[in-house]
Amino acid sequence: MPLDLRDPAYRIDPYPTLARAREAEPVHRDSWGIWYVLRHADVVAVQKDARLGRDLRKWLGYAMVRPYLADSALERCIEQWMFSLDPPAHTRLRKLVARAFTPRALEAVRPFIVAAANELLDELEASGRPEAVELMTAFAQAFPVRVIAHILGLSIDDYAALKAWSDAAIIVVEPTARRKQMQAADAAVIEMMQYLRAQAARRRTTPGNDVISTLLRAAEDGDTLSEEELISQLVLMFVAGHETTANLIGNGMLALARHPAELERLRADPSLMPAAIEEMLRYDPSANTNARAAHVELEIGGITIPAGSLVINMLGAANRDPDVFSDPDRFDVGRAPNPHVSFGGGIHFCLGAQLARIEGAVAFEALLARFASIEVDEAGVLWKNLINVRGLESLPLRVGWR
Ligand code: HEM
Repeated sequence: MPLDLRDPAYRIDPYPTLARAREAEPVHRDSWGIWYVLRHADVVAVQKDARLGRDLRKWLGYAMVRPYLADSALERCIEQWMFSLDPPAHTRLRKLVARAFTPRALEAVRPFIVAAANELLDELEASGRPEAVELMTAFAQAFPVRVIAHILGLSIDDYAALKAWSDAAIIVVEPTARRKQMQAADAAVIEMMQYLRAQAARRRTTPGNDVISTLLRAAEDGDTLSEEELISQLVLMFVAGHETTANLIGNGMLALARHPAELERLRADPSLMPAAIEEMLRYDPSANTNARAAHVELEIGGITIPAGSLVINMLGAANRDPDVFSDPDRFDVGRAPNPHVSFGGGIHFCLGAQLARIEGAVAFEALLARFASIEVDEAGVLWKNLINVRGLESLPLRVGWR
């Protein structure tokens, strides 16, 4: 088996395994009949192909995983996410929610994003300018929660609860999820939805400049968006926008710290920041896979895939395909062009990509401004025991403050 996703070595460094599998069998079928796509050209083609969709109920094996979810609040919520739907249902929801993510709307929140990053680092500095900093807890996890909560118009007092619900819910994207974890995710989503319903009721009477108010206005303008659809998209935005961005910061900082010459190059030329963020996204993407169900029999990379198959795009493998990226295992903060697939592609291309890019740039600008030196305490680096999500449980750094 060239592609053992459960191997502990894969969790620590998946890239040697992915490179071998891409070379040996770029469209690989596992013993469950699930297909894995590893070449860049094939991943891009799959994402653009309307014969493959995100509604995984169209996968013939869906019945095997469904008992974990059957009739739960979580299942009803996921089924309404735009992320889990094909056109025309997807088109309608995406068009509505995209109103809240225009370039203008995002530029308007930039000052908050800068302030949130600096506040967290002020708190850390005030705790005694510690030399040892565990970046995931001190910064990477907390920062995107504050940003997405602000964008949705939620109160600062609720950050801790929102983070706890979102942490429990992210397991739904994992094939390794156990029944107990799914039950915990279900309980978290029930509480989160109750909370969001109350927030939506409040915004109905006192609208603001936040996403909830924008979506309520859209619904009132005659677009059909039921309350359950609205609440489900809010849960999706929270879950999709929190863990992924935290891991962009964690994985990106680990890559920078392990490549001191690239770190110094970025410090010396801050205009490289946008390219550096793209390279962090390419080099070690926080969403390692995305899935599609084949509606009909079709060919991928010359291999026939039966109708009803589950097809998994291996984004980390595509991002290091030597046919597209020169010296793909090299971390190069100035890499251009950089057509990585870390935000997916096609009609489901990440709705929060621009927001994530802004958050990434603001976070690294703030971190590099505070820390004159950054080293990783390698013995304490711990990856999460997840397959689709690639992120650090712990990233201990030794830093010198400015
Ligand atoms: C580094 C951070 C992020 C990464 C790596 C990431 C990655 C992805 C990926 C791979 C997809 C699936 C695309 C597909 O199936 O083709 C996606 C979809 C999505 N993302 Fe992100 N994301 C990030 C941040 C965010 C943020 C901050 C938000 C905030 C709202 C967000 C909201 C969404 C939504 C709503 C979708 C579903 C879009 C659709 O189905 O049309 N993401 N993202």
